[in-house]
Amino acid sequence: MSEGWINVGDAERAAAERLEPGPLGYFAGGAGEELTLRENLEAWRRWRLRPRVLVDTSETTTATELFGEPLSMPLLVAPVAYQRLAHPEGEIGMARAAAAAGTVFCLSTLATTLPAEVAEAAPGGRHWFQLYRFRDEGVTRALTEEAVAAGFEAIVVTVDAPPGGNRERDLRTSFEIPADVGVPSVAAALGVRRAVTLAETFELMTRAMGWPDLADLAAEASVPVLVKGILTAEDAILAVEYGAAAIVVSNHGGRQLDRSPASGDVLAEIVDAVDGRIPVLVDGGIRRGVDAVVALALGADAVLVGRPALWGLAAGGEAGASRVLELLRAELELALALCGCTSPGDLSRAHLQRAPATSVYSRQ
Ligand SMILES: Cc1cc2nc3c(=O)[nH]c(=O)nc-3n(C[C@H](O)[C@H](O)[C@H](O)COP(=O)(O)O)c2cc1C
Repeated sequence: MSEGWINVGDAERAAAERLEPGPLGYFAGGAGEELTLRENLEAWRRWRLRPRVLVDTSETTTATELFGEPLSMPLLVAPVAYQRLAHPEGEIGMARAAAAAGTVFCLSTLATTLPAEVAEAAPGGRHWFQLYRFRDEGVTRALTEEAVAAGFEAIVVTVDAPPGGNRERDLRTSFEIPADVGVPSVAAALGVRRAVTLAETFELMTRAMGWPDLADLAAEASVPVLVKGILTAEDAILAVEYGAAAIVVSNHGGRQLDRSPASGDVLAEIVDAVDGRIPVLVDGGIRRGVDAVVALALGADAVLVGRPALWGLAAGGEAGASRVLELLRAELELALALCGCTSPGDLSRAHLQRAPATSVYSRQ
């Protein structure tokens, strides 16, 4: 069925039909009034592309590299928790789809699959591990060590949670993580397997992490340590100073602080502050190849997608996630060529102008 999708919106509609109200609200929802959630989408649409013509684009490629390693495209799969709630194939299906697409799969701490199982199921894939620090350091350490031992190439420390955001959709549906959806990290932290609420899960994590802890982590790790959840130039500069290998400009898909700015609205100031010292990645609201083109033209080295790949997985398992990644890659390649670029690195701010203030189309 996923072969018939012609854009990410088709996957989203198919997923919404398939998922129960609780999981659907959990995956789709944001915090509070969901203003940041909506603005994440809008921010990319407030730009127009300035195409250059009469450029030989017959050899256009989306291929790029990050930390010196090749990627088929500058679009990665963001960490999304509890993927078996979306589809029985869960993180295994997602990791295989990312591997087939030639891009990175980032496994959440709150995954329903262990890092070693992911590595075994998607052996050719490139895997990163997203880290939430538990109050029980032993739990975090065991998971991280397992990920690195299983060949995971980077640690992505998420710094915009805990605490968890005020997700009102989950409150309305009384959403809980069912006991039969095993979450190894939470089971280890609790010592038992039972149904848990999201609030309870975030309570298992430490809120006491500071910049020196990041520096310690980066110094101790044998792989690059990225920081995910940066929204200001000030924090971007601190991240560089405290040893981050890269940053991810992100508001957690609008799920944490409602009224935090859209990632697309702060990307330029952060790129300027970092000034090329480390790679800058960004996520939030990327739904089309042209969204990614705007982000790259603003100076991002790569983008990540959370919900788009998740909708593909929810509606079609591995094949659905693969379809979404291929649609996005093809859209990106087409948009590059139509901008007069033969690779992502050709994009610059000269390819952008602000949308007219009165445009009605940005709201569609
Ligand atoms: C259902 C859901 C669960 C998420 N779980 C995590 C997580 O466990 N760790 C994390 O760092 N980010 C998590 N995120 C945030 C994503 O990594 C990413 O920042 C966000 O989804 C990007 O926005 P997008 O969904 O508009 O692409 C989650 C996002 C969603 C939608």
